Amino acid sequence: MQTRSIDHGLPKPVLYGDLATSLAALLEGETDPLANLANASALLWAALERINWCGFYLLRGGELVLGPFQGKPACVRIPLGKGVCGTAAARRETLVVPDVHAFPGHIACDAASRSEIVVPIVVNGALAGVLDVDAPETNRFDDADRAGLEAFVEALAPRVRWEGL
Ligand code: SME
Repeated sequence: MQTRSIDHGLPKPVLYGDLATSLAALLEGETDPLANLANASALLWAALERINWCGFYLLRGGELVLGPFQGKPACVRIPLGKGVCGTAAARRETLVVPDVHAFPGHIACDAASRSEIVVPIVVNGALAGVLDVDAPETNRFDDADRAGLEAFVEALAPRVRWEGL
C-alpha cells in the first residue's frame, strides 16, 4: 500500500489536509473496521510530531475496550465517565486536556503523557468509541488539532461500523 508521505513542520491546516487525503486513499474500497482502524492509527503515528501514543478505544459491552493503536501497551478497559477517554465518550464531545495532571481522574497508561486529545467516534448517532492522542509535553494540542482530528474521525466513522453497533 502506497500512501503519500507527510512532511513534518507543515502548518497544521496543511498537515491535516494531507492527512485527510491519505486517509481517504487508505479507506478507499475497504469496509473492514479493524483494518481501517489499524491503518488510521498508523497514519496518525507517522504524521503527527511530538506524540507518544495514538489509537482507539471501542465501545464494547458498555465500556471502552482498547482497539488498534501505536505506542506503548495501554490500559485495556476504561469505564464510561472515567478518565479523559471515558469522559469524552460519555459526553460525546471532544476533550482537549492541556495538562493531564490537572484533569481529575486522568488514567496514566504511559507516565510520559502530559497532554491529550480525545475525539468521540459516532456512527449513525451511536457512540462507537474514541480516538485518543497523547503527547509527552503540555499544551501539545490546539484548536487546529481539534478541527483536524474531528474531521479525521468524521471521515473514518462510516468505515468502522461493527455489526451490532
Ligand atoms: N489517559 C487516558 C487513558 C488512555 S491512555 O492514555 C492510552 C484517559 O485518561 O482516559
